[in-house]
Amino acid sequence: TRCIGILTSGGDCPGLNAAIRGVAKAAINRYGMKVIGFQDGFRGLVENRSIILDDRNVSGLLTMGGTILGTSRDKPHKMPIGGKKQDMTAAAVENIKRHQIDCLVCLGGGGTQKNAYHLHKKGGINVLTLPKTIDNDVARTDTTFGFDTAMSIATEAIDRLHTTATSHHRIIVCEIMGNNAGWLALGSGIAGGADVILIPEIPYNLHAVAEHLMERRRTGKRFSIIAIAEGAKSVEEAQAIAEGKTRKTSPRREEVKFDEHGFAYHPVKEPKASQLTRQIQELTGIEARVTFLGHVQRGGIPSPTDRLYSTLLGTKAAELLARGEYNVMVAIKGRSCQAVPLKSVAGKKKLVPLDHPWIQSAMLVGTCLGDRSI
Ligand code: F6P
Repeated sequence: TRCIGILTSGGDCPGLNAAIRGVAKAAINRYGMKVIGFQDGFRGLVENRSIILDDRNVSGLLTMGGTILGTSRDKPHKMPIGGKKQDMTAAAVENIKRHQIDCLVCLGGGGTQKNAYHLHKKGGINVLTLPKTIDNDVARTDTTFGFDTAMSIATEAIDRLHTTATSHHRIIVCEIMGNNAGWLALGSGIAGGADVILIPEIPYNLHAVAEHLMERRRTGKRFSIIAIAEGAKSVEEAQAIAEGKTRKTSPRREEVKFDEHGFAYHPVKEPKASQLTRQIQELTGIEARVTFLGHVQRGGIPSPTDRLYSTLLGTKAAELLARGEYNVMVAIKGRSCQAVPLKSVAGKKKLVPLDHPWIQSAMLVGTCLGDRSI
């Protein structure tokens, strides 16, 4: 019998459990495989912390948020251990061999695709990946699971902010996740009818934004909603990055640090949205408030669309595994799935292209995208 390992890695999102269920049910019941789950991402693989998945313990997972396997952001080749980052590739490979695993299935975003490819290239093991993230920034797939649920949550938040902003005649700035991509802010901003949408792909001009808000007031609209992606940058900040004066990093998470006990953690960075709210209030003279949606966007039950994608991806993965088709990512294409070489995905990011129909449409309904020329 074929044996597969499975792990979830990087930030969690709704649909992970549904995907684990999809892979495991099809692999066990249809193809007679043995399925081993590793806990807490690559960390559990390196530390050999595993559980056998069977038909019973993967039942009831379809609607459950989070991941029953646990997750971490640890990379096999730079794992924080005892106060420093260590290359644990050999330990990961040894544990794959110990369990006689034919292929390791890794569920994750951009970082996970890279780490899985690393294990294949440097460790010589077979891998197969699925694209999960609320950020929707994985290359070569139409979308990722987790994104649709997060977009619904953010849209509902924008709807709710509308009623209170209207009552108080305020500007409300709403910070939306998405890392360095604008998909989540743009999608929920359009769906929620935000008046201004700021995304990393379009550096914003503060004065253009203030002018747009004042123009709304002049025409009798006494409130405004600004949807700002956590990774949005002003024209000046984008220029500093382009000139190499500042490094482009994760917008809200610092690099890993160690405390005095050698415990590893990622400190959180100060949000951009607070500063923007203050600046906007000063420039417009309109009272402004800020709201952070934060990890609410990653929690709770997956939407029907994400449950469907997770199940399609999971079962397609099992089909490919049964045929011995490894070292691919299962991508969403239209309403179905197809395998793409992992090599063509690893290390790439899918940002919002400037000619994307969502940008065009936002512009046509009169949304300010932070730049007068767009
Ligand atoms: O990648 C998913 C994501 O939620 C990003 O949108 C966000 O920048 C980041 O993770 C937050 O990371 P953490 O959960 O480590 O604070």
